[in-house]
Amino acid sequence: MIDLTDKKILITGATGGIGKEIVSHCLSLGAKVFATGREIQKLDDFVGDKNLVILPCDLTDEKQVKVLFDKLEKLDGVVHCAGRIYPYPIKFIKEKQFNEVFTVNTESLITLTAQLFQHKLIAKKASLIFMSSISVQHPYMGGALYVASKAAIEAFSKSVALEFASEGVRSNCIAPALVQTEIYEQTRNAYTKEQWGKIVSQYPLGIGKPKDVANLTVFLLSDLSTWITGTTILMDGGLLLNSNR
Ligand SMILES: NC(=O)c1ccc[n+]([C@@H]2O[C@H](COP(=O)([O-])OP(=O)(O)OC[C@H]3O[C@@H](n4cnc5c(N)ncnc54)[C@H](OP(=O)(O)O)[C@@H]3O)[C@@H](O)[C@H]2O)c1
Repeated sequence: MIDLTDKKILITGATGGIGKEIVSHCLSLGAKVFATGREIQKLDDFVGDKNLVILPCDLTDEKQVKVLFDKLEKLDGVVHCAGRIYPYPIKFIKEKQFNEVFTVNTESLITLTAQLFQHKLIAKKASLIFMSSISVQHPYMGGALYVASKAAIEAFSKSVALEFASEGVRSNCIAPALVQTEIYEQTRNAYTKEQWGKIVSQYPLGIGKPKDVANLTVFLLSDLSTWITGTTILMDGGLLLNSNR
């Protein structure tokens, strides 16, 4: 039985489809949750829960991030769900597009993580989790920047695992394939109905749900996974089984 009682967990992207489900799971398992996002009204369902602290924050704004450190307590877990998909075919990539994707998906998460350690806000034996994407293994047309931004996060997570193992701190990535959230809707809109049908048919177990990702996340946050670090766990409903690549 997974138990997160008394664990203090920071969740970025807590207002998103996957993040919100993780907030809900963590609260139901007894954790105290620090939830960040920009559109915090999306967390209205949880307002009044004494174990939830909502911290509005644009992670790309240094001043707003600084405010976080005064409001956080020593953390037993960090779940980085903040991220954006911006599809750009390679021929259209310039510095602007690069920055648009990497600032949110990579830079803000790396610098926030580093600052959490600098402020001594990561407890011994803490578990850090970064949401990557199956697209690192299985890239899609137009996804070059997104895929590269997630690959960088996977490499960073391994370095965190190595540098902080002596403190029992663990760092892992979860790499989901398509999960039914806003990002999923945006992805779907980029395809014709026929193309989309073909994509969905490649999933032997169907498209994922936020609760599928939340279930793995709470396991990685818990003391049941204390020997797992420096890895990326794929969750793809069997997609790669059907891949010809
Ligand atoms: N859904 C999928 O199919 C899928 C598959 C693989 C990987 N992933 C990854 O899983 C993570 C969560 O995805 P999701 O589907 O839940 O996406 P989502 O519903 O679009 O949520 C994205 C989250 O990122 C936050 N965010 C974006 N820019 C931000 C910024 N500048 N500052 C602070 N927060 C920011 C959003 O906050 P606001 O809304 O408050 O601005 C939101 O909470 C992402 O990293 C995504 O790349 C998703």
